[in-house]
Amino acid sequence: VTHIADDGIADMTWPELKTAVASCTRCHLCQTRTNAVFGVGDEKARWLFVGEGPGRNEDKQGEPFVGPAGKLLDNMLLAMALKRGENTFIANVVKCRPIDSDGKDRAPTAEESAACKPYLERQIALLKPVTIVALGKVAALTLLGGDPKTSVAALREQLHHYGNVPVVATYHPAYLLRKPVDKAKSWRDLCMAADAYA
Ligand code: URA
Repeated sequence: VTHIADDGIADMTWPELKTAVASCTRCHLCQTRTNAVFGVGDEKARWLFVGEGPGRNEDKQGEPFVGPAGKLLDNMLLAMALKRGENTFIANVVKCRPIDSDGKDRAPTAEESAACKPYLERQIALLKPVTIVALGKVAALTLLGGDPKTSVAALREQLHHYGNVPVVATYHPAYLLRKPVDKAKSWRDLCMAADAYA
């Protein structure tokens, strides 16, 4: 991926960042979005959960994880005695919904992720979270870098770092809906994240 201009994102305040995301044209996903999805939570949140990108429901409502995967994420938070919007910030790697030519949700490309990454980087710099949970491979690899072929399975069960912030990688809730047998493993990951937070 070639270098993409930062557009001053690295110096933005939280309100400036919100405004910039809402009107962003850094990649072509702006042409098909209804709403850019900045994330939910406040600037003082100590927990950061990072997903992949908005789907149909998120694009419509402008909030992350509001569909079936979001329901599961809310339950995962609840199990950790956390709640959406309370000491947690939920964000995505890309702020606009990636769709394929049939209008179906798809994963973001490397170019789309790279174009959007300065926003996530700035969100992290402003939030200064105590612990980050990477939900799925796209979030994990965006935060941790490394070989694009690396699986979540290979990244689990070890504490990673983004700068000096501990990062735990776990399965994406949408994956867990398809493969509920892996929920037990994901719970272990969340416990590891809670240990890193403590
Ligand atoms: N999946 C994601 O990764 N993010 C959302 O916001 C919704 C579904």
